Amino acid sequence: MSTEQTESLGGQVVVFSLAGEEYALPIAKVQEIIRHTEPRSVSSNVSWVRGVINLRGKIIPVCDLAARLGAGGRGAAEGKIVIVESSAGVAGVVVDAVSEVLTLADSQVDPLPIAASDILRSVAKLENRLILVLDPERMLAGITDAYSELEAVEETAGEPTAAEPLQLDVLEQSFDLLAPRGEELVKRFYEILFERAPAAAPLFKKTNMKRQRAMLLGALVLLRNSLRDLHTLVPKLEELGARHAGYGALPDHYPVVGDALLAAMAELAGAAWTPEIGVAWTEAYELVSGVMLGGAMQAELAAAA
Ligand code: HEM
Repeated sequence: MSTEQTESLGGQVVVFSLAGEEYALPIAKVQEIIRHTEPRSVSSNVSWVRGVINLRGKIIPVCDLAARLGAGGRGAAEGKIVIVESSAGVAGVVVDAVSEVLTLADSQVDPLPIAASDILRSVAKLENRLILVLDPERMLAGITDAYSELEAVEETAGEPTAAEPLQLDVLEQSFDLLAPRGEELVKRFYEILFERAPAAAPLFKKTNMKRQRAMLLGALVLLRNSLRDLHTLVPKLEELGARHAGYGALPDHYPVVGDALLAAMAELAGAAWTPEIGVAWTEAYELVSGVMLGGAMQAELAAAA
């Protein structure tokens, strides 16, 4: 059922990529963006429902956008899940990467005839880019047909399902090993970051790096101490992410920063560093940066309102 109103085609959109193409969704319908977690499959008669994930205790369906577009095959295997609201309910959409929030002027957007594809609303033409804007209502229409399945899953799901738990023991033990050398760790982190990504250095040109190192270490210690109670950290991380948008941090910077942090940790830990520790920290970093980016996006949304 569609509750769509006639509205101007321009406005703010969240842009993301899938199989080399750029797509967008109206920002007002995007609740948050989370790191990819493999949906638990359900035998659904809706062919483009990839499965379900557990979003902070709520089981929601995940739409395989490639299949929904009729492109065939599975879409992004990793990347991000965009959490979208529609009158059919909240659902996740698997995409390769989320790149930016754009404000589209009406003049940049052309409507698409419904017959062109039932889930595309319009096409935005920017210099040398073509962005297909999706209609969330039409995209998720019919997903409710999968709900009887979902309810069944919800009843039996005592444990969180697809949201993989972090490896808390591994994270705590490895951090505790490094904590006595915390100052050295953050110092090495910035050295590695600026070596590998000199383009990030100008962001810190007015920053007091001594204070900055202490603040980053403080954030890492807080994270370590809150690992078993991560939900208490979510609002703080969202605010941190919103401040980072103001510092000029872009979504693309996050993996680079994560790699540098992990490299510094591995270097200091030496022989004690194992692939298992690397995986545990990669997952933790992705979780933290996902929440921060969600906060940055919410702040953009609030500023635009
Ligand atoms: C999980 C990822 C990250 C964490 C935990 C983190 C943590 C922090 C903390 C605690 C501060 C102190 C200032 C404040 O609290 O607002 C800070 C400042 C800063 N961060 Fe991050 N950060 C992260 C990712 C990034 C990324 C991806 C960038 C982009 C290059 C970045 C760039 C900056 C800059 C430029 C400042 C300094 C702002 C100033 O001059 O005061 N950070 N970060």
